Amino acid sequence: MDSALLPSLRRFSAVPLGGLLLGLLLFTGCGSEADTTTLRLGHGMAPAHPVSKGMRYFAHTVDSLSDGKMNVEIYPSEQLGTERQCLELLQIGSLDMAKVSSAVLEGFSRDYRVFGLPYVFRNDKHRFNVLEGEIGREILLSGQDVWLRGLTYYDAGSRSFYTADTPIREPADLKGLKIRVQQSPVAIQMVQELGAQATPISFGELYTALQQGVVEGAENNPPSLHSTRHYELVDYYSLDQHTSPPDVLLISTHTWEDLTEQQRSWVQTAADASLQKQKAYWAQAEREAMKVVKEAGVEIVRPDKSKFVEAVQPLYEQYRKNQPRVYELFQRIRNLHSSDDS
Ligand code: GCU
Repeated sequence: MDSALLPSLRRFSAVPLGGLLLGLLLFTGCGSEADTTTLRLGHGMAPAHPVSKGMRYFAHTVDSLSDGKMNVEIYPSEQLGTERQCLELLQIGSLDMAKVSSAVLEGFSRDYRVFGLPYVFRNDKHRFNVLEGEIGREILLSGQDVWLRGLTYYDAGSRSFYTADTPIREPADLKGLKIRVQQSPVAIQMVQELGAQATPISFGELYTALQQGVVEGAENNPPSLHSTRHYELVDYYSLDQHTSPPDVLLISTHTWEDLTEQQRSWVQTAADASLQKQKAYWAQAEREAMKVVKEAGVEIVRPDKSKFVEAVQPLYEQYRKNQPRVYELFQRIRNLHSSDDS
């Protein structure tokens, strides 16, 4: 289909029937209200997850900044498809917005791969200095030409292994285990480098995969381990915190180009404000999640991280040789210092 046609088709379908009738009334001089622009946003998290709460805050802020002239309809829990499918819908202009993990963006816009590299950030302060600074912005905009314009990041903490029967105290414990990974080239390489069999499965299918023993473990941050109830199916959570890929809120470039300057400003301002709010939701959810997981009987393992850091060193070398752009971003991140982040 001619992509030039898509924005107008999409806008047409986003106007509810009531809006069309109102338009007719306005045309005949009988109505008084202006039309409303509706943006549809799809994602995979459960409604109680702290990233979902951040998006509800975003929607609420768009509504209040625009005085009700713009609204955001949110479709959680993969109702509109997996993260990858939502990105494809954004690209063809059939969906306005999506929230995905940066890991899933790696296959669409190469720059995001840098966030998939293990131990790229020194600590949370360094992570937010990168995400909210120049490098973070550059990466958000790197997807613009493939119709995926990043608006903001959301805190998605750090990912660690959780396993059914084998506690992971050092990389050798992963040997031969089938571990679910995101649909991310870097995650696949990293988990293989650590000795496990990386098995990409979508988020929504993982509960059943763990239950049926298709995989023997997975890796994620505490709020996601909690909200998916995967903790009911595993005995160990080993806090090696190997990666910290952020979540990303995106708008289709088709939709973005269709918005007025004023509407763009409402959307971007609301996105920026929602990150600040979401960070607070995250901190609280992380504490609550650890408590619930522990109380459910999952053993929390605190491995010596230096062994994991050592085991993934060859990965950096591969990126240095084969992916110079990603490696350049990696070095810029590593070289970013601020007075109090280390
Ligand atoms: C995190 C991330 C999600 C992603 C999930 C996954 O929870 O926030 O966006 O879907 O990991 O492991 O697939």
